[in-house]
Amino acid sequence: MDALAANWRQLSERTAPGLCAGMVKANAYGLGLNRVAPALYEAGCRHFFTANTFGAMKLKKLLPDCHAFVLNGLTVGTDKVFLENDLIPVLNDLGQIEHWAATARSEGRKLKAMVHMDTGMARLGLPPYEVDQLIERPDLLDGIDVTYYASHLACADEHDHPLNTEQLHNFRHALARLPKAPASLANSSGIFLGPEYHFDLARPGYAVYGGNPTPGRKNPMQPAVRLHARIIQTREIKAGDPVGYGATYRARQNQRIATIPVGYADGYLRSLSSIGVARVAGREVPLVGRVSMDLVTLDITDVPEAEAQVGTWVDLIWGPDKLDRLAGYAGTIGYELLTALGGRYPRNYLGGPRQ
Ligand SMILES: Cc1ncc(COP(=O)(O)O)c(C=O)c1O
Repeated sequence: MDALAANWRQLSERTAPGLCAGMVKANAYGLGLNRVAPALYEAGCRHFFTANTFGAMKLKKLLPDCHAFVLNGLTVGTDKVFLENDLIPVLNDLGQIEHWAATARSEGRKLKAMVHMDTGMARLGLPPYEVDQLIERPDLLDGIDVTYYASHLACADEHDHPLNTEQLHNFRHALARLPKAPASLANSSGIFLGPEYHFDLARPGYAVYGGNPTPGRKNPMQPAVRLHARIIQTREIKAGDPVGYGATYRARQNQRIATIPVGYADGYLRSLSSIGVARVAGREVPLVGRVSMDLVTLDITDVPEAEAQVGTWVDLIWGPDKLDRLAGYAGTIGYELLTALGGRYPRNYLGGPRQ
């Protein structure tokens, strides 16, 4: 928890004088909203983003005075939920803007919102032709207190990708023609693209949780998650012996195998079969054979027998680069590994605010 807070503070210092938010969608990237949000709040974070109103309502119960933004916006029938819980919708199309403005009229007061413009992702946010319409009809925003205009970068994790500067240009171009309000563009990697991407509010998630926002370069963040489990069985096998389902792995020599009670049901992805790595007694060892639902098998031949016994702890995610490295082996991103961390793991939160 202290690493998490330190990461947020580092990002907040980088983005000053602009503000820095905390992205806590998907149960705080799988790590537990209940623990993460108060820790970020204690570090100074006041702006939080969730994907939907369920997350935002939980957040507001924990931190009643925080600014709770809902990325998925005003979905059908959610007006009341936004109003009653003091949530801020991210408005993603003109229809939502019109709807929120009408709600403001019937409430007889201005209502806060973030207006999200799509500058190159074709995912969420006002498409460029709607941005043009809004520029022609700024009165559509009457009744809305635009706390921020926002957009989201598609390729910020690729420092030199041409879409970064293109999106920055599109965003600036739109901002210059819309009624004045603060702006928000950068996610974790966006913060590292340079100060011109920071605007008034940054929205980091992954880097707060210790993921590397600068792929290919040294991770500037502190690792915040360590996953470990104990060996539950060991065995000696001979050259040619198969290991695991499908006999996809065969021993190349006489080997020692350790079985660990973690599997794909825990979010330890099956695509890590025979390519994952773990750490036993300070040594990195390869995962051999298929990942099963509840078990994985490691080749511990190179670890002295006395140091790898039933009961010995094995690290599965550790240090500043394993999350990203493992994800790379699995053909995915660390975000997926974090959010997939299963419900069967006992979770110990070390440091951070008292509960
Ligand atoms: C709109 C928006 N902003 C910010 C973020 C945070 O991104 P990251 O976790 O890469 O910092 C996300 C995450 O997907 C997002 O969808």
